[in-house]
Amino acid sequence: MNYWAVVPAAGVGRRMGTEIPKQYLALEGRPVIDWTLEVLLASPRIQGVVVAVGAEDPFWGDTEHAGHPRVAVVPGGKERADSVLNALRHLETRAGGDDFVLVHDAARPCLRSDDLERLMDEASDEQGGLLAMPVRDTMKQADDQGRSERTLDRGRMWHAYTPQLFPLGSLRRALEGALAAGVVVTDEASAMEWTGHRPKLVEGHPDNLKITRPGDLELAAFHLINRRAEEGSSL
Ligand code: C5P
Repeated sequence: MNYWAVVPAAGVGRRMGTEIPKQYLALEGRPVIDWTLEVLLASPRIQGVVVAVGAEDPFWGDTEHAGHPRVAVVPGGKERADSVLNALRHLETRAGGDDFVLVHDAARPCLRSDDLERLMDEASDEQGGLLAMPVRDTMKQADDQGRSERTLDRGRMWHAYTPQLFPLGSLRRALEGALAAGVVVTDEASAMEWTGHRPKLVEGHPDNLKITRPGDLELAAFHLINRRAEEGSSL
């Protein structure tokens, strides 16, 4: 099977409140996106990575992986789904429609290689799949006053992470259809669900956080340092 990766990296990261978009903030001495790309490029199964970068982005050129022979760059779009679509359209000029694509947020630098490989092992079929984690807390639905009106069935609820893995052609068609129909697409799985697919929820490690708010960078650094210590002690 052939695998490719798409990394949307064209967001401005408004919720972080920083000048520099979150995918370029320094994390343990290198930009967040370099950690992310390193994990994807380390997989021998992934043939190439397409990064969607903002039109006026002055930061990408200074990263370690700009110019890497297995990394291509396309312009990003207005929303995350538009950035992903640009990358998928580029890939369709190089890859087969039945090839698989892993879409992974640039802002998730703590992805573990074993989670990435397990997702490919368990979800490489027409339904596809995504890394996810069962929710731990009791889940409430709020009314418009911010009061709890209902307790949801936590037994069936998962946090959706990335990577999300789908056949390239099916994903491109699902995203185009969902966007044209005005469906809110916050991840690839939501577009695939809209076309009737049932992506597999593959339980991943909870440290695969998305850098979103101030404080997340410190948490990501904590996970990376811990992991280095674990790997060191098992050598
Ligand atoms: O903003 P959010 O956390 O949902 O962004 C998730 C990922 O999508 C980030 O890596 C961000 O750079 C990317 N993105 C993009 N194009 C956009 C918006 C977000 O590639 N228009």
